[in-house]
Amino acid sequence: MKRILTGIKPTGKIHLGNYFAVVKELLEMQNKYEVFLMIADLHAQTIPYFPQELKQTIYDLVKSLIALGINTKKVTIFKQSDIPAHLYLFWFLTTISYMGELSRMHEFKEQREKYGKEGIGVGIFLYPVLMTADIILYNTDIVPVGEDQRQHLELCRELTKRFNNRFKTNFKIPEIYLNPETAKIMSLQDPTKKMSKSNPGGCLEIFDSLKKIKEKILKSVTDSEKEIKYDPINKPGISNLMTIFKYLTQKSYLEIEELFKNKSYYEFKLEIFKAFTKYFSRARKIKQKISNKKIDLILKKSAKKINIIANRNLDNILKKMGLK
Ligand code: TRP
Repeated sequence: MKRILTGIKPTGKIHLGNYFAVVKELLEMQNKYEVFLMIADLHAQTIPYFPQELKQTIYDLVKSLIALGINTKKVTIFKQSDIPAHLYLFWFLTTISYMGELSRMHEFKEQREKYGKEGIGVGIFLYPVLMTADIILYNTDIVPVGEDQRQHLELCRELTKRFNNRFKTNFKIPEIYLNPETAKIMSLQDPTKKMSKSNPGGCLEIFDSLKKIKEKILKSVTDSEKEIKYDPINKPGISNLMTIFKYLTQKSYLEIEELFKNKSYYEFKLEIFKAFTKYFSRARKIKQKISNKKIDLILKKSAKKINIIANRNLDNILKKMGLK
């Protein structure tokens, strides 16, 4: 059976964009593949954070994933920081990575703008090298990610080939899996940008209060026309709302246009809110019932299982590298 691995950074609450780009994909994949789902807490540390908050965010993230349908009998959800072997392999990989190629990563360049050349953390610079370690330590076949991670994964493939050549290892070169369609949920406030936590007003967190969700949907940016028509170039706001409605109801764009002929944007937005409530109502109920203690148990059990696999592979790597 093919092995899938992906990582989710615990830096905020799960939003609609995350859900349709990654979580929904995993719900399908868990029935077909062996899935390792990693909570990338070490990656989350690359931006300033509060320790107690990180801890709560991790609980919240794992609960959300389970409530949304990730089946822990099929999927191994584990915490990156529970597996020390990642950091060994990460270090080895830094020794064959070039400053030039890491400096060319979009995410690094963006962050460098924000922090200034001197102020940017080295962790952000090395971020894709740690990702490579996460992936190849398990001989992962396929890595499903959102479009924003494509460049990191291309680098990962490059580093893996280089490592194999240099140390005569036999790591699989992981395949990148991008779902071309679902990665495209845009911000409700600025439909030219992807929905993201960095623009809270335009971001629908799945487990937020219904009042807030309704408010955000009703306030979403549209245009000065009246027609509900799919036209991402001229009507990016309405088109984005249509995409959201399409995923929530499994209706096609044409069906949606038909359904809302002669209806106002306001009526359409109310229907989106209703569809959202219906789609996630079960998950919202389940999430409330999951305790922190249950999450502790799940993570403890998976750490045990994953450490066995990781340490076995690390042992082989150490031998190949002349360290053992
Ligand atoms: N960097 C990824 C993100 O921000 C998270 C991540 C960490 C990841 N390690 C990974 C994704 C390994 C895929 C594979 O979304």
